[in-house]
Amino acid sequence: MLHSLGRSLHRSSSAVVSCGVPARVAAASRNMPGAVVNKRTLAATSDGAPVTSPDDASKAAKRQHVAAEAAQQQPQKQSDQRDNLRYTKSGNPLLTPLTGHEEQFAELGNMQQLYRGTTAKARQHVNPLTSQNQKLLDPPEGGWGAVFADPTLPLQVDIGCGSGRFVLIRATRLKGAANVLGLEIRAKLADRALVWRDRLKDAGKVNNAHFMSGNATISLEHLLGSYPGGVQLVSIQYPDPHFKKRHYKRRVVQPATVKHIASVLKPGGRLVVQGDVPEPLRYIRNMVEQHGDGCFALSPENRGAPAPRAWQNMAATPADSDTAADDAVDGVIAASRGDGDDDDEVVNVNGGEERKTGGTPASSSGLLHNEWAGAPEETEAYSSKWAHDNSVGWLDPACNPLGVPTEREVYVLRANVEVYRCILDRV
Ligand SMILES: C[S@@+](CC[C@H](N)C(=O)[O-])C[C@H]1O[C@@H](n2cnc3c(N)ncnc32)[C@H](O)[C@@H]1O
Repeated sequence: MLHSLGRSLHRSSSAVVSCGVPARVAAASRNMPGAVVNKRTLAATSDGAPVTSPDDASKAAKRQHVAAEAAQQQPQKQSDQRDNLRYTKSGNPLLTPLTGHEEQFAELGNMQQLYRGTTAKARQHVNPLTSQNQKLLDPPEGGWGAVFADPTLPLQVDIGCGSGRFVLIRATRLKGAANVLGLEIRAKLADRALVWRDRLKDAGKVNNAHFMSGNATISLEHLLGSYPGGVQLVSIQYPDPHFKKRHYKRRVVQPATVKHIASVLKPGGRLVVQGDVPEPLRYIRNMVEQHGDGCFALSPENRGAPAPRAWQNMAATPADSDTAADDAVDGVIAASRGDGDDDDEVVNVNGGEERKTGGTPASSSGLLHNEWAGAPEETEAYSSKWAHDNSVGWLDPACNPLGVPTEREVYVLRANVEVYRCILDRV
């Protein structure tokens, strides 16, 4: 059959020269100008039929098989993309922008006054791997006593604190008992939070809150090793998901970050992880189990809690798509920009709200490939002993162990989006 096909092609086309080889391939083999040689032209005619040997035919068949497999996987990929989109405003119309004046932030007092004249036009994406984000965060100039009234109090650290309302409210509640530090890679958000902090300080509400801008992934040990009162709590709330596998190295927790947290957290201290996208949280939990050198244990509170509804249906394998997943990341990140506004910052101008557009993504040039940057593939496939299946290892989703919502938490909870919470104990 293959031979007869080859023969008929031989007869019917003047473009075919001896031995059943298409004319342009034969030309290529003689190094004629303009000739193109590639596997495709060697193995098939323009209509894809095999033309030469059974060997060529088997290669073509293999290609067909690969194409058929890819076509089969396409629906799964599309459904992953749809899955990721539900974390964004475009995928979930119930997600509506925050104003920053929500009742959950009422403890901040007169918000009109607090936000007065403060704007923060922040980038939508900050790539933690660019060279400017590889600088270690130094302890405050003048020491910790320069930023906290009493640096001998234990410290609570919120990594990726966004606009910082969580840190400010938590600090007002913990005044006299602990200090609260917000770390945020986008300097404009940290700077604005410092203005709010100063206003609250002037009003006598806080003397125990501070914000610093920089890359927390690499800085914790260098920054916090010298803190006099010791670190009692680290929180990572609603971390940027970075759905694409090739962007896992941008996730806020990398193997070295786990070691840093273990080194700064006092025994008995806690790492609290929570958010609305379960896969990156599971990833952090596995990372801590895998790279924590036995310094952490899943808190007993996580065991036996009923699994969140959505988690039961969640594919264990994360999506890795090229289009919609990116949009989803944009949406999730943008949603937490500052005030939880979906695309951008909501800023207060003379008591009114004004929306500012986000900036362009950071350039991907200047990426560093140092040894900490790059979540290992094995973490993705890691088989957890702490949470042997997807339905265990989480707290009751209705109970935020920190008692204060972040901007993103307010944003998602009012849209009835499921959230996931986990406490890891420093043993
Ligand atoms: C999805 S937002 C959540 C913000 C806030 N925690 C909330 O729940 O509303 C994640 C935040 O982490 C910050 N971030 C990401 N990588 C970081 C890093 N390596 N160091 C410090 N902050 C980081 C982002 O800029 C962003 O503000």
